Amino acid sequence: MTWAEVLIPHIKALHLGFLALWIAGLFALPRMLARHDDDLVRGEYAVIRRATHYGYIWAITPAAVLAIASGGLLIFLREIFTVWLFAKLVLVAGLVAVHAWVGHTIVAVAESEGEHEPPGAMVPALITFGLVLAILTVVLAKPELEELSMPSWLMAPLGRHLPFDVPSR
Ligand code: HEM
Repeated sequence: MTWAEVLIPHIKALHLGFLALWIAGLFALPRMLARHDDDLVRGEYAVIRRATHYGYIWAITPAAVLAIASGGLLIFLREIFTVWLFAKLVLVAGLVAVHAWVGHTIVAVAESEGEHEPPGAMVPALITFGLVLAILTVVLAKPELEELSMPSWLMAPLGRHLPFDVPSR
């Protein structure tokens, strides 16, 4: 057994653990922010808002970074450079966009306390659910996407130059 084969199950377990935390956060944070009903006094909502702020900075964002880093490491350890993996990465970019949107919402709510009505939690939850379902389908079914026809301009170098001068070394 090579050292890479010994490492792979451990890195995969870390990958899945960090993912679980990241995705749980993407569901939980918008729900916490949406707890902005009239029965809640301002001070109580501030406690929830602060928890979303620290949760995002100290738990959910580090988990996202470590999930992506461990996934990147797995690419090289498993030597996977296949079309399904690239399809998965496009979907992961969608999750990163949801992550950035959640961060933006936390800041917007904090900077306009009492004025900013936090968005509902249903839309981000549905988008996250759709993306996670699609990623899990791709990663577990590993479909043969090699025959997918790509436009010719994506398949061959076009020999174009950058529109500005670059130093020769
Ligand atoms: C940039 C982010 C990511 C990268 C680079 C990445 C990369 C990888 C790689 C290379 C593997 C090993 C596949 C194999 O052994 O056949 C893997 C496993 C896995 N990944 Fe990711 N991943 C990322 C994000 C995600 C996300 C967001 C999810 C779920 C929502 C996910 C779910 C899984 C699962 C379930 C496995 C285990 C699959 C198996 O063992 O057959 N990954 N990942």
